[in-house]
Amino acid sequence: MRPEVAIVGAGYVGMPLAHAFADAGRGVVLIDVDPDVVDGINRGESHIGDVPSGELKQLVDDGRVTATTDFDAVKEADAILIALPTPLSSQREPDLSIVRSAAELIAPRLGRGQLVVLESTTYPGTTRECLQPILESSGLKAGEDFHLAFSPERVDPGRTDWTTRNTPKLVGGLTQACTECAAELYRSAVETVVPVSSPEAAELTKLLENIFRAVNIALVNELAQLCERMDLDVWEIVEAAETKPFGFMSFKPGPGLGGHCIPIDPFYLTWKAREYDFYTEFIELAGKVNANMPYFCRSLISQALNHGSQKSLKGSRLLVLGVSYKADIDDVRESPAEKIIKLLQKAGAEVAYHDPHVPEFDGLRSAGYAPQEYDCVVIVTAHTTIDYDDLVERAQLVVDLRNATGRNGTGNGKVWKL
Ligand SMILES: NC(=O)c1ccc[n+]([C@@H]2O[C@H](COP(=O)([O-])OP(=O)(O)OC[C@H]3O[C@@H](n4cnc5c(N)ncnc54)[C@H](O)[C@@H]3O)[C@@H](O)[C@H]2O)c1
Repeated sequence: MRPEVAIVGAGYVGMPLAHAFADAGRGVVLIDVDPDVVDGINRGESHIGDVPSGELKQLVDDGRVTATTDFDAVKEADAILIALPTPLSSQREPDLSIVRSAAELIAPRLGRGQLVVLESTTYPGTTRECLQPILESSGLKAGEDFHLAFSPERVDPGRTDWTTRNTPKLVGGLTQACTECAAELYRSAVETVVPVSSPEAAELTKLLENIFRAVNIALVNELAQLCERMDLDVWEIVEAAETKPFGFMSFKPGPGLGGHCIPIDPFYLTWKAREYDFYTEFIELAGKVNANMPYFCRSLISQALNHGSQKSLKGSRLLVLGVSYKADIDDVRESPAEKIIKLLQKAGAEVAYHDPHVPEFDGLRSAGYAPQEYDCVVIVTAHTTIDYDDLVERAQLVVDLRNATGRNGTGNGKVWKL
């Protein structure tokens, strides 16, 4: 089958996107620099949890999905979707080098009438200021010879109720025709497409969504720290507030932000805003509160050991339970577990971890599940496969940073909650 859609980057975003298009009957080619990823896909083996290998194998066998490291594959496609990482540099500035280098490989292969869509999360202006000039080095003009648009990805890895297919998809093209062309493509695989006026509007909308989360998480994290001083249970308060049927949206406190998006994306806007003499203070403040959480959690663990078992962090044996950045997935990018483990080790504790989804993490191997063998078990990520009642029963001491022990943990002398 001719690959009508070329997707550059076969990761957490590219794979579900490929799945959705292929499922809708379109031929898809995935282009990735990693030969292991490419070989795996061509064998029908998925490395992304949201795309089951069984379904991928079927699509590969039917000739609807192929993968390659060769950018020549974009030549045949009607549409080229770019789903590449957009990290921060070590100075916490946007690093678009991956998107740029891929665009440089696409440009000489670009054909008249093709559609190029950037899916990577980035600051407003990237599609027009960064991508367009590179693509136009081909001699073709965006909006005239080829279509160019931005369409942010909203996938929430591990989620089954909202998927690529039923999550509304924003599309902002360079021209009205670009928007229409991209909207038409997505309508073939996605239930609802929402056109906006420009690539910048789509770029900023995606950042607003993630900044909204970062700021609200910071708000409850700050409240959790105050509740600790006031001897109040922040989980009870958030749960009670959730009963208001309007005007309140629930966010949970936790050990810090994780994943490729929420800890990183807001700072793309902070950086861009400086060009306009503007300081994004909410973003900075949220970043500060959230970044402090691992330190706050370390002091909570220290207090639990002191008051719960007359022990100090130094010399204690600790089990960190769950190291992926959220429950029931294997993604450890930016996981707060890394910082917490480092802080505990620095304080002289002997730290092991157990995570059924992550066999190796930060130079350690997942230990067998034996909570009784540790001075304290610290729940950093609450995978649903763990029986938390049984954990409370067996462990000597528990620090619960996720309210995984629920009511069973409340008022239980063994359990210290965030
Ligand atoms: N992960 C999420 O939940 C999520 C959600 C919404 C938006 N996003 C955004 O989508 C973008 C992609 O994120 P992701 O999580 O899919 O990344 P990822 O790291 O999972 O996947 C990226 C893939 O690109 C490949 N790659 C790297 N450099 C390449 C190059 N030069 N040419 C071809 N392939 C290359 C990698 O081998 C990898 O397989 C980012 O901008 C991210 O912020 C991610």
